Amino acid sequence: MIDKIKELIVEAEAFTAKSKEEVEEFRIKYLGKKGLLNTYFAEFKNVANDQKKEFGQTINTLKNTVQEKVNALKEELESKEDRKGLYGDLSRPGEPIEIGARHPISIVKNQIIDIFSRIGFNVSEGPEIEDDWHNFTALNLPEYHPARDMQDTFFIQTNPDILLRTHTSSVQVRYMENNKPPIRTISPGRVYRNEAISARSHCFFHQVEGLYIDKDVSFADLKQTLQYFTTEMFGKSKIRLRPSYFPFTEPSAEVDVYWGLETEIDYRITKGTGWLEIMGCGMVDPNVLDNCGIDSKKYSGFAFGMGIDRIAMLLHQIGDIRLLSENDVRFLEQFKSAL
Ligand code: DAH
Repeated sequence: MIDKIKELIVEAEAFTAKSKEEVEEFRIKYLGKKGLLNTYFAEFKNVANDQKKEFGQTINTLKNTVQEKVNALKEELESKEDRKGLYGDLSRPGEPIEIGARHPISIVKNQIIDIFSRIGFNVSEGPEIEDDWHNFTALNLPEYHPARDMQDTFFIQTNPDILLRTHTSSVQVRYMENNKPPIRTISPGRVYRNEAISARSHCFFHQVEGLYIDKDVSFADLKQTLQYFTTEMFGKSKIRLRPSYFPFTEPSAEVDVYWGLETEIDYRITKGTGWLEIMGCGMVDPNVLDNCGIDSKKYSGFAFGMGIDRIAMLLHQIGDIRLLSENDVRFLEQFKSAL
């Protein structure tokens, strides 16, 4: 029996509790009216005389051990409670505040909007689900026009007249239909093309369209505007306009900015030429003006269109276009310090 009591001493010494209820349970188990100690005390009279002394001492040790344990645990739990108080633990460090980051597409889009708004352009938007007229026909691309093939279009299966816009030029048409010149507007937005997804191309991406319509607008105005833009956007003012073809502009041009060949990166992104193609542009074809209800004998204008994703990739050295739509926070977090 003495050995059993000694075991209980070891057990009581090792006991720990998370709540006052557990401590109370522990106390009752040993010290309660029907507790272990009383049970053993009752046995005292049956113990052989020569063992009475040791038995008595052992049982007292158990009693003291339990009592001390109960006091110590109570004190510990109470002091924890005090610290918590009404407002919780005031010595705890504060919760970190997570700061969000703008998406690189938004950053670049906002920069472009900012630059053009300084010279009087407003911002306009149109639907991503378009009809044939606004995306193609009004822009001088009638049915069977070969240039339609250049843009792999997503059509709505049940209605070939409805499609996902392949460029933001559709917003030009909507804007001209609903507003009278003078017009100065830029139209940012998402566009869709049925292309294989790779590091360089995606089935959706973003463009900004620009449109300027007034009396006596000339090609020189276009060039000045674009030069202002490249200077503000890239800090580069040397541009060249290469003759090109778009159905909705005549004449049409592709705009290259002189990036330079100072670093290895310059070399890589310009393929060793120093020049970087950044957009298409031209004088709005008189047919387009007439299609949209603007008198082409009275008014003229220019338009341009550029890809936002490409510019974002260029400025932030993003090697894979897919990163822009994967929403990986490890990528997005890196733009915390940008605008
Ligand atoms: N819509 C053309 C494209 O997606 C870009 C473009 C070129 C827009 C010339 C224009 C323009 O307004 O004048 O490739």
